[in-house]
Amino acid sequence: MKRTTRKTRLETQTSVPGNGINRKQARVRRPQKQATGRALILHPVVKAKGNGKSAPAPADLSPDARLEEAQGLALAIGLHIVCAEVVAVTKPRPATLFGGGVLERMAAFVAGEDIDIAIVDAVLTPIQQRNLERAWSCKVIDRTGLILEIFGERAHTREGVLQVELAALSYQKSRLVRSWTHLERQRGGFGFMGGPGERQIEADRRQIGERITRLKRELKEVKRTRSLHRAARSRVPYPVIALVGYTNAGKSTLFNRLTAAGVLVQDQLFATLDPTMRGLTLPSGQEVILSDTVGFISDLPTDLIAAFRATLEEVLSADLIVHVRDISHPHSDTQKRDVIGILEDLGISRDLEDGLVEALNKIDLLDAETRQSVVTIAARSQGHIPLSARTGEGCEGLLEYLDQRLSRRRHVVDVAIGLEDGATIAWLYSHGQVLSRSDDERHAHMTVGLDPKDLVRFERRQAC
Ligand code: GTP
Repeated sequence: MKRTTRKTRLETQTSVPGNGINRKQARVRRPQKQATGRALILHPVVKAKGNGKSAPAPADLSPDARLEEAQGLALAIGLHIVCAEVVAVTKPRPATLFGGGVLERMAAFVAGEDIDIAIVDAVLTPIQQRNLERAWSCKVIDRTGLILEIFGERAHTREGVLQVELAALSYQKSRLVRSWTHLERQRGGFGFMGGPGERQIEADRRQIGERITRLKRELKEVKRTRSLHRAARSRVPYPVIALVGYTNAGKSTLFNRLTAAGVLVQDQLFATLDPTMRGLTLPSGQEVILSDTVGFISDLPTDLIAAFRATLEEVLSADLIVHVRDISHPHSDTQKRDVIGILEDLGISRDLEDGLVEALNKIDLLDAETRQSVVTIAARSQGHIPLSARTGEGCEGLLEYLDQRLSRRRHVVDVAIGLEDGATIAWLYSHGQVLSRSDDERHAHMTVGLDPKDLVRFERRQAC
């Protein structure tokens, strides 16, 4: 059996005499907050059976890119990355995933380098996780565990906190169940019945189950309040524009730039977890609500997508979706496919490709030639706006385009309202765009642009 390791290009290497380990210090990417532990990150690449080639990484990212992404996630929770490695696994072991050689090598490394936590950038079974912890004598978490940690740190609103806890408990519970089943089978094989471990696991499971039920009840209440708020907002019918995008694409920076609001902006993955909404006036005077959302990531565990669906509810009901892309990222196209895939999973299928506005962000990072080609291609396609949220370049163009898109949906109507009906005149001013008005002795003759839903409301109002 042949096992090879590849090094991340972010790292420098030094050979550690005696144990044959390539030690790579993460010199380029530093934790954004105070380090909470020394971490080892392994991205396993499982070789496909038969042809000796690696199985394609999900979402077509190269193993190096995946490793880099995992490092970004680890840095986001303040870990100090001591070593990050791509590890080829020829024959995944059900008990430990990795083979004996890697296990031993890593055990020596963990001991020698005082590693607190090993992150395996894959989905580990509970048994694999437990066995690796035993073999390496340190905490081991997999990709879902890592993302949960980040979500846990970033959740701010009541709903966000509850959602994260629910996702974490469901994850933990499924581990207990699977681990328990496994123990059961083992006991059967050895002829044991019952035993203290089983009772403990049962008790844990029951406790987790009760907590999950309580959380779901609380969540229901929080959601009800939120939908009341939303209903209240839809009575003040500003169109909602939602910013979506891959994590770190620059959504919060753009949100701040457009609304001059003080949303947390950090070069950290998942700096935003809860949707943040602000009012914004477009160049035509049209008021809109801009909504910043949680960043997407490739390979987001399905449990988490379900749990965070509510966080993205604003997107589901948005009038326009702006997909913020980091156009300077080497995997920008793959990231785009991931985001579209997740939006589809969420049930947003309405003319996704046509309906989305694409903000091609970070053009300030492109060299002159690439930048020119991005600008040229964007000019040829509808709804692609090159910009830099950091420098502000192109942001005016985005606002104008959003205005245009919303006004396209607006109906222009000519109405004559009795001058004594001040309430209706005021309603038209607050809900529509009054394009012209001339009054005679009895009527205000107005030309007004109205959204389809406001037009219906207006007609209903007049019918009463
Ligand atoms: P999540 O909250 O993880 O989803 O991230 P986000 O998409 O909200 O990204 P955020 O706005 O936090 O930006 C991520 C990093 O990119 C920050 O360091 C920003 O300063 C940087 N950034 C954002 N926009 C631009 C840009 O136009 N140019 C450059 N050079 N950097 C940018």
